[in-house]
Amino acid sequence: MTSAEPTTIFTRSWSLYDLLTEHNYMFHNEIYSGIRDLLELRNDKEHYRLLDLGCGNARYLTPCLKRSPPALYEGVDLSEAALAEAREYLAELTGQVILTHGDLLEAVESTGKTWDILFTGFAIHHLMPDEKARFFRAAGRCLSENGWLILVDVVREENQDRESYLDGYLKFMREKWTHVPQDQLEEACTHVHDYDYPECLSTLQEMAGAAGLNCTRLISRHAQHYTILFSRSAPTKG
Ligand SMILES: C[S@@+](CC[C@H](N)C(=O)[O-])C[C@H]1O[C@@H](n2cnc3c(N)ncnc32)[C@H](O)[C@@H]1O
Repeated sequence: MTSAEPTTIFTRSWSLYDLLTEHNYMFHNEIYSGIRDLLELRNDKEHYRLLDLGCGNARYLTPCLKRSPPALYEGVDLSEAALAEAREYLAELTGQVILTHGDLLEAVESTGKTWDILFTGFAIHHLMPDEKARFFRAAGRCLSENGWLILVDVVREENQDRESYLDGYLKFMREKWTHVPQDQLEEACTHVHDYDYPECLSTLQEMAGAAGLNCTRLISRHAQHYTILFSRSAPTKG
């Protein structure tokens, strides 16, 4: 299994992450409203297949999927607690829903299906650089011709090293995440300090390009939180 430790905070309980997102500390409201608009651009609604890597409880993606229903949704996560909640949130989707307990890198590398959308939200930054490159190569192999890789994640500034990124992010957490109880805030800070390895946009772009995903579009940026769309060619339609 790859990078299991970063998920400890999510396997024990889902309540801390819910608290953060309910206060919109990581811009879930803005980010997922952008995802909703993006999915609405596709012309293969009710026919497309979406693989959600590190799906968590799928709480914020579900409303987008209700507006633009996939024929097949598969969510992969290492947290059983998150998957149990995801099952509830996704219950009203009309298409097929599969929830898989497993490692996201193994899942994308071993999938036998072709996917129209690969989605990943705040999960890839836990991978090491060689694992991220493997992730993009696998994405390039299993995406359909007009497929999209939608990546939501924290990103470092160009030429910013990890230490300086962490200084900035931990400061942001301690100053802005004021509704998180002190002990839980420290737990979240330790998680970020120990397990977050975000890349610069140019590095993600290079890895995607090496995997044949030559078109990169920055969909949104809210502080360190980016939404990036990768595809083989300009994504005029799905
Ligand atoms: C910060 S949460 C994000 C949840 C949701 N995608 C979102 O955008 O809000 C990260 C999720 O990725 C999962 N995760 C992290 N690394 C993983 C891995 N290697 N394999 C599977 N799931 C992983 C965690 O268990 C957690 O549920």
